[in-house]
Amino acid sequence: MSDWVKFYDFKHSVIYVNARHRDVHYRAIAESIRAYVPSPAAHVLDYGCGEATSADLVADACAQLVLVEAAPNVRASLTMRYAGHPKIAVIAAEQAAALPKAFDLVVMHSVAQYLTQAELDRLLAMFRALLKPDGLFVLGDVVPPHIAAPAAALALLRFGAANGFFWAAAFGLVRIFASDYLRLKKTAGLSHYTEAAMLERLRKAGLKAERATRNIGHNRWRMTFLCRAA
Ligand SMILES: C[S@@+](CC[C@H](N)C(=O)[O-])C[C@H]1O[C@@H](n2cnc3c(N)ncnc32)[C@H](O)[C@@H]1O
Repeated sequence: MSDWVKFYDFKHSVIYVNARHRDVHYRAIAESIRAYVPSPAAHVLDYGCGEATSADLVADACAQLVLVEAAPNVRASLTMRYAGHPKIAVIAAEQAAALPKAFDLVVMHSVAQYLTQAELDRLLAMFRALLKPDGLFVLGDVVPPHIAAPAAALALLRFGAANGFFWAAAFGLVRIFASDYLRLKKTAGLSHYTEAAMLERLRKAGLKAERATRNIGHNRWRMTFLCRAA
């Protein structure tokens, strides 16, 4: 397990300042993913889905939703949450490559920053293989190199102010900085990409890509890319 996966391997990650933040966050992500579902018959994969507390909103709009999560405790909690849901399956990261190559939509949101370039390239090749010929791969929340930390802090405060948890967001920022986040940022590193660098990586992976007009996540400085097999 990578150090970043260990960092996220809690039932409730320190990254979410309180339950309201977590739920508003995952609802917004689910609504954005749902908007990319091409039809009610679609098969959808969400790689690195995290706590995904609103995944049922996505499932309501498609035929099958596969949630892939590397962190075992998060996965156990997802498995309990969606046990018996007729459209949702929860699997481990190493099981993803063996899935049928028949997805209409593959999403990876807010994960690329935790991957080395080699890990990202391996996953891009896998996603390309899992997509149907006309399938869409959405790569979201890609972090650009400049002012990443102040932008993330400001975006969180704005998100908190807009959703009734500004002070919790402010205290939460202190908690995040007191957590292992900064140490891991130095030791494990975070991957940043300019728009041009990411477009080039996607092209090399055999994907035709363009930057979406807005990011899926609430941080408007981060980038979402829409990709199809070239
Ligand atoms: C910020 S959360 C994103 C969760 C969700 N997709 C969202 O947008 O809120 C980061 C996720 O990346 C996953 N992750 C980090 N490093 C990873 C790796 N090397 N392989 C697979 N998943 C990884 C973590 O397990 C965690 O679920």
